[in-house]
Amino acid sequence: MKICVLPGDGIGPEIMAEAVRVLEALNLGFEMETALLGGCAVDATGNPYPEATQKLAQEADAVLLGAVGGPQWDTLPREQRPERGLLGIRKQLNLFANLRPAILYPELANASTLKPEVVAGLDILIVRELTGDIYFGQPRGIEEREIDGQKQRFGFNTMHYSESEIRRILRVAFEAARKRNKKLCSVDKMNVLETTQLWRDIANELAPEYPDVELSHMLVDNAAMQLVRNPKQFDVMVTGNMFGDILSDEASMLTGSIGMLPSASLDANNKGLYEPSHGSAPDIAGKGVANPLATILSAAMMLRYTFNMEEAAVKVENAVKKVLAQGYRTGDIYEPGTTKVGTRQMGDAVLAAL
Ligand code: NAI
Ligand code: MG
Repeated sequence: MKICVLPGDGIGPEIMAEAVRVLEALNLGFEMETALLGGCAVDATGNPYPEATQKLAQEADAVLLGAVGGPQWDTLPREQRPERGLLGIRKQLNLFANLRPAILYPELANASTLKPEVVAGLDILIVRELTGDIYFGQPRGIEEREIDGQKQRFGFNTMHYSESEIRRILRVAFEAARKRNKKLCSVDKMNVLETTQLWRDIANELAPEYPDVELSHMLVDNAAMQLVRNPKQFDVMVTGNMFGDILSDEASMLTGSIGMLPSASLDANNKGLYEPSHGSAPDIAGKGVANPLATILSAAMMLRYTFNMEEAAVKVENAVKKVLAQGYRTGDIYEPGTTKVGTRQMGDAVLAAL
């Protein structure tokens, strides 16, 4: 049970310290080792994803990541940018399944731009395919072509998915639905795109293997509308890379609290990379005010999906609910009448609740 810990840049080290304390307090026998990724790795080695980090990440059962990036590295050539480190590790570990929960704890209902009655208590999970689709399909490019007797620029991309790619992401989604409320909505655009017709066919073929899960289908444009109209109708949603990119950002914004949202990216053996959905927040880095809860909740996802420790995962999630009920708030989720705390104090409160 080996965890590779990558604090990263900006607020990364501050929020990671709290997640590590929570994991240690659970006393489950994890072996944790820390390495460099992102801008800190560029500064130390010239490489955003150094050899030593690659070795550790490949050997570990799970990777826990803070965040990478910051303005001081924005002028570097593309290959040396911190985000390259992130893309590198995702690709090397073959993390094809991206799990993004959008949870709005009842105590934070005012953080959303939607009416509290529409979003309070929201708890949905978006499963996005991460390594295929139109983002990676060949051929692609911008080139000069002669069209209608006129030389002009022509842009093109290719959407494709193989049966095995679709099958494996749908299986992750069915399994995730099984661990939750047994409702899965598969999102496609089968009325105009053959690739997604295949997606829908395969979802229907797999459904009999998961008789306990109720499968439904929705076209992506309708899904985008339904997410803002009545998001609580969903439990688990599954979709391809491009639709998932857009819908998962939309869903996370329903909650209005970026400092609260975890994420997981899994490979075929449930090895995973777990990280908060937010970035390195350079504007508040080093001040001890960042919200560590998204990282702590990412660690809970790690317990659930990689280590199959459902009980421990729920324990951590309940501790987070408890500190919110007790009124503890970091600056990003603060409201008058609650108790404003810093990163370390929020960690202390979670440990006390545990
Ligand atoms: P960001 O998520 O870092 O920050 C956006 C806003 O949310 C800021 O005002 C920030 O202070 C606040 N915020 C974010 N996390 C918070 C937390 N835990 N507690 C309290 N407030 C929090 O996004 P931004 O500003 O677009 O990007 C900053 C840097 O992070 C960039 O270099 C970007 O490339 C990088 N980034 C890295 C990601 C990753 O490592 N996965 C993802 C997104 C951005
Ligand atoms: Mg996006």
